[in-house]
Amino acid sequence: MSNRLKVTPNDLSAFWMPFTANRQFKQAPRMFVSAKDMHYTTSDGRKVLDGTAGLWCVNAGHCRPKITEAIQHQAAELDYAPAFQMGHPIVFELANRLVDIAPKGMDHVFFTNSGSESVETALKMAIAYHRMKGEGARTRLIGRERGYHGVNFGGISVGGIVSNRKMFGTLLGGVDHMPHTHLPEKNAFSKGVPEYGAELANELERIVALHDASTIAAVIVEPVAGSTGVILPPKGYLQKLREICTKHGILLIFDEVITGFGRLGAPFAADYFGVTPDIMTTAKGVSNGVIPMGAVFVKKEIHDAFMTGPEHMIEFFHGYTYSGNPIACAAALGTLDTYKEEGLLTRGEELAPYWEDALHSLKGEPHVIDIRNIGLIGAIELAPIAGSPTKRAFSAFVKAFERGALIRTTGDIIALSPPLIITKGQINELIDHVREVLRSID
Ligand SMILES: Cc1ncc(COP(=O)(O)O)c(C=O)c1O
Repeated sequence: MSNRLKVTPNDLSAFWMPFTANRQFKQAPRMFVSAKDMHYTTSDGRKVLDGTAGLWCVNAGHCRPKITEAIQHQAAELDYAPAFQMGHPIVFELANRLVDIAPKGMDHVFFTNSGSESVETALKMAIAYHRMKGEGARTRLIGRERGYHGVNFGGISVGGIVSNRKMFGTLLGGVDHMPHTHLPEKNAFSKGVPEYGAELANELERIVALHDASTIAAVIVEPVAGSTGVILPPKGYLQKLREICTKHGILLIFDEVITGFGRLGAPFAADYFGVTPDIMTTAKGVSNGVIPMGAVFVKKEIHDAFMTGPEHMIEFFHGYTYSGNPIACAAALGTLDTYKEEGLLTRGEELAPYWEDALHSLKGEPHVIDIRNIGLIGAIELAPIAGSPTKRAFSAFVKAFERGALIRTTGDIIALSPPLIITKGQINELIDHVREVLRSID
C-alpha cells in the first residue's frame, strides 16, 4: 500500500464542496485515494465498485494505460498553447477523430472544458446562427421541465430542476419549457423506452403557436435525462421533436453530456434513436473524465453560416483559455483509442439485456416504486419518507458506500451508470449491493 493511502487531511473546512451536503460530509468523510478499472480505493483501504463511472464520465474505467501515457507524454512535450489565433496539431487531430465517430453530418467541433460550457456555447451558437442568417429575432430558447444542462446561467435557465434554479434570480429572459416525459402512472417498470407519452412532443407546437416560430432559436433536450433521476423519451417522442423543429426552422440541440460516448450502447444517443440534432453538446466521456474537456458538434450548415465577412476577422466571439488544451486533447485521444480497441462505444448494446434483467430483478424489493433502464443506465425510484424527501435515497447511498459500491442518488432515485467495461459478474455484484441496501434501510 502506498503512503498516500494513509494520508488524511486534518482540516476539511477550507474546501466548499460542490453539490454536496458539506456539513454531513465533513462529519463522516468519504475519501477516495486511488482507482483502477472498475474500482476505487478508499482512504481506509477498502475497494469500492464504481456503479456510476465517477459522475457519468469514466466510461473506459479508471487509470487506463493509454490515457495515462498520453497525458504524461503530452505534459512533457507541449503543456499549453494559446487557444486563440494559435493552434497545435493534436487539437485538429482530435476534432477529426471526433467527427469520424459523430452522427453523419455533424462535421465541426468546438472545444470547451465542461458540459456546462458546452451548453452555453451551443445556446450562443444557436442565437448567433440565426442572426448570421438574417433572422435576428430568433432569440428564444426552449428547454424542458426536469432538464439538466449544467449550472451556468444559460443552462439553468433552459434547465428545469427547481432546486438548481430557485436561488438564482430571474435567469435568462425569453425562455420557455416543454413538459417532462415522466409518466409513472402509465409507464412504471417499463423495460427500455416507455410506450406512452410521445404526444408530449406536441407541446412544442403549443409553445411555437404562443411565441411564433420567428422568435425561437432553439430547443434543447437531453435525449435521456440523467441528472433529474433518469427519464426516458417515450417511443417516437424525439422523432416528433425533430419534425416540429425542422418544420419551424428551429435548431434542435441534443445535450449528450451523459449519453455521448457509448452510454446507450451506440456512440451517441442520436445514433441510438436515429434522430440527428443540429447541435450536440458533449463533455465527460470525451476525455474519460480524466482532464476537463467538452466538445460541441455542429452541422456544416451552422458552421458555414459564420464563415463570412473579411477573412482577418474573428467569426465567432466566443471561446475559453483552455479550449482544446493540449493535455486534455491527449487525454481525449488516449480515450478514443481505448474505446476503439475495446469496442466500448457499442459494448453497452451487448450488455444491455443482461443489465435490464439484473435491474428489474429489484422489483418487489422494499421501497421500490419504479425501475427504468436504457443502455447501461439504470434508475431505481424509491418511495420518499413522508415529510423527508431525499432522506431514504441518501441513506441508501451512504450504506452502499459502506458496503463497497458507489451509487448516485437524486431526489429519491438511485441512478446507476457503470463504466462500460463492467462484466456480468460485476453487474450482479452491483445489483446485489443495491438489493441488500434496500433491505437494510428504513
Ligand atoms: C446533460 C448534462 N448537461 C450538462 C452537464 C454539466 O456538465 P458539467 O458538470 O461538466 O458542467 C451535465 C452534468 O451532469 C449533464 O448531465
